[in-house]
Amino acid sequence: MLENITISPKGGLSGSINIPGDKSISHRSVMFASLASTPVIIKNFLYAEDCLSTVSCMQKLGAKIEKDEENNLHVLGQGLYGLKEPEDILDAGNSGTTLRLLSGILIGQPFFSVLTGDASLRSRPMARIVTPLTMMGGEIKGRQDTRYVPISIEKSKKEKINGIEYTMPMASAQVKSAILLATLFASGPSTITEPYVSRDHTELMLETFGVKVAREGTSVSISPSSQLHAPGEINVPGDISSAAFWLVGATIIPESHLTLINVGINPTRTGILDVLKEMGANISIENQRFSGAELVADLVVKSAKLKGTTIDGAIIPRLIDEIPILSVAALFADGKTIIRGAEELRVKETDRLKAVASELGKMGAIITETSDGLIIDGPQKMNFANCDSYHDHRIAMALAIAGAASLGVNIHKHNCANISYPNFFATLDSIRK
Ligand code: S3P
Repeated sequence: MLENITISPKGGLSGSINIPGDKSISHRSVMFASLASTPVIIKNFLYAEDCLSTVSCMQKLGAKIEKDEENNLHVLGQGLYGLKEPEDILDAGNSGTTLRLLSGILIGQPFFSVLTGDASLRSRPMARIVTPLTMMGGEIKGRQDTRYVPISIEKSKKEKINGIEYTMPMASAQVKSAILLATLFASGPSTITEPYVSRDHTELMLETFGVKVAREGTSVSISPSSQLHAPGEINVPGDISSAAFWLVGATIIPESHLTLINVGINPTRTGILDVLKEMGANISIENQRFSGAELVADLVVKSAKLKGTTIDGAIIPRLIDEIPILSVAALFADGKTIIRGAEELRVKETDRLKAVASELGKMGAIITETSDGLIIDGPQKMNFANCDSYHDHRIAMALAIAGAASLGVNIHKHNCANISYPNFFATLDSIRK
């Protein structure tokens, strides 16, 4: 496979795109279905590298998982207490969600397991899950004082792990979900409080599988469960984090008009829509409907002139994965865009604040990197450059849109887009005039 791709300048983006399945919901649908005891058919599952890591881990834990000719994923779990000891290490690849959510499930199991990931995941912080899961009675050991994977999870010394009341130091759906999943196997309830509400797909899926969830402000509580009640079918909405590249691309490239079909618009994920609208984007939300517990819609976006804005506070977790592409939007906007309170970006697949400033910087952009954000004064003139994705899917795709909107770009290691959006570059090619 080619190690790099060149995006040359062309006209506007037009047509309609079926947005591929949501990554967060795809992970959760396989994990939950694997813990149920009746078959579940997952439609519009995201067959991207991250979600396939989850499939492979759940298979090693005993779930029967198969894809049919229509690309539906059939999962037959062995019940909440039916997972078996894996014969080998569970490899989460590049996927933090796989690793952290699975750790929550595994501390409740009466067997030994070992989890690892690729070079990026092996350098990402794990204390954030190890601390609460250990408070629950989990027996976790890992590299460098259990701050990094590989980690091993021993059979708990107690009959059952315990629930906890836990205040998280950061807003993180992965940490929250790990504790929620562990609580299913605990002797008592848990209450988790975050500084701001992060994505709530786990809470919605718990309800879909018959578990009562209580929410108040930024807190969520659940009680242990003896059984999950599978819904039979899960229809995964399109991923707004993938749609984000087209929302920004069609906004900043003149003479664009795109329809994005079947996009998840769960309010804990729509920070990008709020920010782009505030900046002056022309986006309409059409055909709103529910897909199970998740809200979806079609989004129509046309080119528009943008102005700078400030992005901080409670909206950050609602657009955490969209900051690289929003930085590209800011380069084409009039005036200053200030992003702050986004220090979590430093511990994503790569340090995304550094990657955005350095790689867009190679294209001529002047971006000030702060400890917790970025300052971008637009509009800026961009040149063709050779850039590196840092093997981070969202950096690769943000660079592609930046190049398509200016004088082009060569992206080294562009194939990492497969981690969340396998057809991204083919789709880009097909919608350019
Ligand atoms: C995710 C949560 C977010 C997000 C990640 C997916 C999830 O991470 O960045 O891409 O599926 O729960 P944090 O919860 O660590 O912020």
